[in-house]
Amino acid sequence: MIASKSSNINTKPLFILAPMDDVTDTVFRQVISACGKPDLCFSEFVNVDGLMSAGRKSLQRKLERFETEPPLVAHIWGLNPANFKKAARQLASGSLAQEIGLSTNYAGIDLNMGCPVRAVTKIGACSGLIKNRALAAEIIAAVKDGNRGRLPVSVKTRLGFGEIDPSWTEFILKQGVDMLSIHLRTVKEMSKVPAHFEELIRIKHQRDQFSPNTLLIANGDIGNIQQGQEIIKRYNIDGVMIGRGIFTDPFAFSSKTQWDDVGTSGRIGLFRKHLVLYKAWAENPDKGVKRLNKYAKIYLSGFDGAKQLREKLALVSKLDDMLTELDSFATGLPVM
Ligand SMILES: Cc1cc2nc3c(=O)[nH]c(=O)nc-3n(C[C@H](O)[C@H](O)[C@H](O)COP(=O)(O)O)c2cc1C
Repeated sequence: MIASKSSNINTKPLFILAPMDDVTDTVFRQVISACGKPDLCFSEFVNVDGLMSAGRKSLQRKLERFETEPPLVAHIWGLNPANFKKAARQLASGSLAQEIGLSTNYAGIDLNMGCPVRAVTKIGACSGLIKNRALAAEIIAAVKDGNRGRLPVSVKTRLGFGEIDPSWTEFILKQGVDMLSIHLRTVKEMSKVPAHFEELIRIKHQRDQFSPNTLLIANGDIGNIQQGQEIIKRYNIDGVMIGRGIFTDPFAFSSKTQWDDVGTSGRIGLFRKHLVLYKAWAENPDKGVKRLNKYAKIYLSGFDGAKQLREKLALVSKLDDMLTELDSFATGLPVM
């Protein structure tokens, strides 16, 4: 029997690592958690229709979790309510976690109703559901049916599609979800305008009126937990979700360390850690070199020679060569 960590969703206030597809995999989450541990993480988004197809095995990698990570919410999307129901049943019973080889079950099930990428909105999925409330309600009901109260069910969404639409958040709250994470922009705005924090006053009222037990989580432009604490206090909400803040400060979830205080060898050491963890996790580590180079900008910045080091790394094709390049740069550093 797999133990459920669902109680973590009730810790307040909650500091949550946002889902970022192709970025926040188990390896990056391990690195971030070692710098400062979020209360919860969301997985990358996993398509339920794919999960119920022959492609199931490859999608399962996105649902992997290492023991040192915080509890993980399975973040799912799709179009077919029947597949949502099946996925919810497998998540809630622990059978999917067992199939993947996890010792602990997921902390919750989150439904992606906020992704603005054209490829998904044009088929009516994710934020496309804002324009199709009948299907959105059917999906939530199907997940609840499959889940049968075993895991918390949440929705991550935006303020509206073309414009801020108060009736959308009211609608979601009336479905009785356990948590609502709201990215404080419309779909049309993508991430091009500042987050509309003032909307939290209205959404908090809606939450109190229509679904007082739903946890309200704010998301968008919150750089670290210190900023998050201010938002939580100002709007009296249950938590915040931080995404891109970890790109400029991997210690975004730490109350002690700031990235500015981490020197060159610390930055290189952290990237080295990421590469070593990836090497242990990936089936074919060398295939991941291009992907790993995307993280270089996060770790290898803010010191002399950072750009040149990144340029050298971009030319290698083997993961071990990346490690060698890092080590030879670190060897040349003055001993403090
Ligand atoms: C590279 C990237 C991938 C993302 N993938 C997802 C996703 O799969 N699901 C989702 O709900 N949001 C996704 N988002 C949106 C973030 O979760 C978050 O809502 C958004 O970045 C705003 O928060 P921030 O300002 O703290 O980054 C993604 C964002 C980025 C930058």
